[in-house]
Amino acid sequence: MRYAIISDIHGNLEGLQAVLRECSLAQVQAVLCSGDIVGYGANPKECLEIIRQFKIISVAGNHDWAVSGRLDFSHFTDDGRRAVEWTRGHIAMEDIAYLNALELSIKNKDCILVHASLYEPQQFRYMTNLSKASISFPLMDVPVCFIGHTHVPGVFVEADGKIYNMDNSTIEIQLKYKYIVNVGSVGQPRDGNPMASFCIYDTQLQTIELRRVPYNIHEAQRKIIEAGLPRTLASRLAVGR
Ligand SMILES: [Fe+2]
Repeated sequence: MRYAIISDIHGNLEGLQAVLRECSLAQVQAVLCSGDIVGYGANPKECLEIIRQFKIISVAGNHDWAVSGRLDFSHFTDDGRRAVEWTRGHIAMEDIAYLNALELSIKNKDCILVHASLYEPQQFRYMTNLSKASISFPLMDVPVCFIGHTHVPGVFVEADGKIYNMDNSTIEIQLKYKYIVNVGSVGQPRDGNPMASFCIYDTQLQTIELRRVPYNIHEAQRKIIEAGLPRTLASRLAVGR
């Protein structure tokens, strides 16, 4: 099976379309999403339509549940809160119901998918270092867990009782080890690289490949500004921060 795992689309239609084009060129058979389909970007409705049309299985991100009313978002940044309110006014009741029904984690025989962490997933804590990763590894009974949330791609490995980071963009999976792969963000990367981020997981080859794709950032920015969303949500796309 050849999966693509995407995350943190955040209503960025141009980013999503570019990634899905790349997935089809890469002969991906199934696309999974680690959450945050909406919030920040100007095309939440269009992104939700694509997710459903292509039968992309997604877990809940904090923005998805904030928009649906399932999560208190009073602690979000000002931009985040404004984006939640704006998004609520620009999607349909059926979209709200879809977001509200998203689950915190989904597992199949090959991998488990969660937005932030397997440990207390409902808290949506950022997995930014080895000690934060260490409390999720014991909860894995499949070799690979895919996450998003930080918008920064990266890989944590647990091997022979040790936990460490891997910088490689291609990883050869050893089934006796465990891997937590942050696939980065399609719609608002924050690692200084403005290109859309996602990964391809090939269970035949047992490889995971982190990929970057250019997309029409100017168009995504133009729509954010035209929609009256905070201008910083547009400007940050150009720098990937
Ligand atoms: Fe996010």
